[in-house]
Amino acid sequence: MNGIICGTGSYIPSYTMDNNDIAGLVDTNDMWIRERTGVVKRHIIKDETTASMAAEAGKRALENAGMKAEELELILVATISSNVILPCTACEVQKSLGAVHATCFDLGGAACTGFVLAYNTASAYLEAGVYKTALVIGSESLSALTNWKDRRTCILFGDGAGAAVMKAGEGKGWLPVTHSDGGKGEALTCRSRYCSNGLTSKLRPEDMTDEANFIQMDGQAVFKFAVKRVPEVIQEVLEANALKGEDIFLYILHQANKRIVEAVAKRLSEPIEKFPMNLEEYGNTSSASIPILLDELNRGGRLKTGQKLVLAGFGAGLTWGAVVVEWSCPVKQPYGS
Ligand code: ACO
Repeated sequence: MNGIICGTGSYIPSYTMDNNDIAGLVDTNDMWIRERTGVVKRHIIKDETTASMAAEAGKRALENAGMKAEELELILVATISSNVILPCTACEVQKSLGAVHATCFDLGGAACTGFVLAYNTASAYLEAGVYKTALVIGSESLSALTNWKDRRTCILFGDGAGAAVMKAGEGKGWLPVTHSDGGKGEALTCRSRYCSNGLTSKLRPEDMTDEANFIQMDGQAVFKFAVKRVPEVIQEVLEANALKGEDIFLYILHQANKRIVEAVAKRLSEPIEKFPMNLEEYGNTSSASIPILLDELNRGGRLKTGQKLVLAGFGAGLTWGAVVVEWSCPVKQPYGS
């Protein structure tokens, strides 16, 4: 038994801010942002929430799979930007979709590795026979965690959601490879929900500053981590599954920075054409970036049954991981068709 993707969906807020808009907020410019990151614009929530985007992406994935919400047995949402602490975003998605038979929970905190870890979790349940169907979503309102006065970070992030419907199949399961290094966690932090009861524990001074309420990042440390660890984990996942680079049709990486994707391709000695990118349009949408890209490729008719893909995520924690996906989603359905 294995877990296979049978439908994809995404939701992108319509409001956009391009690099010139960002240059109106902080001391930066379009050329610097394009050259250093590849980002040209990002979509930002107005009326949407992390939960509403997740629900819409999930609804579109169900339509793409030709499945009813009542058939879902599991809903997982990967997010670091849920709009409330309780209830979890997955339960809000359940309510919105009417997925009354689903067990629902969030995978918080794994940030840009979140979708890969949620996918692995769903796969494990499906392979074990615990559930037969699952909806896996990455949804983020990173604009709410972004310090719009910090030019080192506010140029990078955007909002959106992507989703995949999975079901138990008869084929072979692929082994994932994942890692974490909590010792390097200070490279990427956001302490807005730092827990202190004010009675027996005190907030640390740095947790009371404005900056600590938003994403703080040692950009160069994260960059170096990504260009070293991502190629390594891709090699590991290929070896674990007795595959070679030539067996892989596309590498779908977390969309953090064009230079990171290019460096990973170079280290793997693979052509950059095997690394599709859409970060120019959306920026870094954390756990949503991989499923948004997957949905674009699926709806664009780029993926054919039997092709093997590698999904690879990396981010805060630090965490990173890769998984092989054998494409098995027969339905093509461009938006607006
Ligand atoms: N505009 C203009 N100048 C800038 C900007 C800006 N937006 N930001 C920084 N600079 C300046 C710096 O002050 C510095 O100036 P100095 O040399 O006078 O001191 C100079 O540009 C170079 O700064 P660096 O930080 O060295 O720039 P770098 O080339 O490393 O690019 C970046 C910064 C884009 C953040 C890069 O390090 C990066 O992409 N890192 C990875 C980030 C990432 O992927 N994070 C997400 C991880 S996923 C998750 O979990 C959220």
